[in-house]
Amino acid sequence: MFITFEGGEGSGKTTQVRLLEERLRGLGYRVVVTREPGGTPLGERLRALLLDVNTQVEPRAELLLYAADRAQHVAAVVRPALAAGVIVISDRYADSALAYQGYGRGLDLAALRHIMAFATDGLQPDLTFFLDLDPQQGLARCAQAGKADRFEAQALAFHQRVREGYFALIAAEPERWARIDADQPLAVVQGAVFAVVEERLRLLQR
Ligand code: TMP
Repeated sequence: MFITFEGGEGSGKTTQVRLLEERLRGLGYRVVVTREPGGTPLGERLRALLLDVNTQVEPRAELLLYAADRAQHVAAVVRPALAAGVIVISDRYADSALAYQGYGRGLDLAALRHIMAFATDGLQPDLTFFLDLDPQQGLARCAQAGKADRFEAQALAFHQRVREGYFALIAAEPERWARIDADQPLAVVQGAVFAVVEERLRLLQR
């Protein structure tokens, strides 16, 4: 099972990924947790470049760097783990490119879908969580944490387009997505995430 987490800045994805991992491990499942950008040695180098506020990069170049990260990640980490029967949980995946480079930067969505299909060799998640939070609140959380990477430094309007983009992606493929209100206590979000995963696992085991 391939599970991905999506959301805006400060939505708490990374914490929820870790909590889900612990819960599934506790139940005896084998789990690999990974992330994009990152997840491989090459990916971690690309991540440092992509998130550095000093990196000057044009939207198409930015997209292709994310695509290169994803191609490496899928081939070296995600597919081998899935083939070994492990549950893979990725903190972001191709939907991030559609939301950020497509809806956020305004790159052509049809072209983007082709590039994503090439980069992933067609691998789609079985289940995708969208941890939904008003961007204003999410950016305030990041500011509080004292970090601002290249995306967190973008204008609020950019993050609002990204969120609208996620809404459009969910509407187009509702059966793959689970939208969770991230403006709730951590444990409530965790409970909501786990309820969805439990249900999917039950269906798979039938
Ligand atoms: P995060 O690890 O805090 O989610 O940071 C990753 C940043 O990279 C986030 O701001 C979203 C951005 N991103 C894209 O713009 N396109 C992509 O394809 C991915 C995976 C991430």
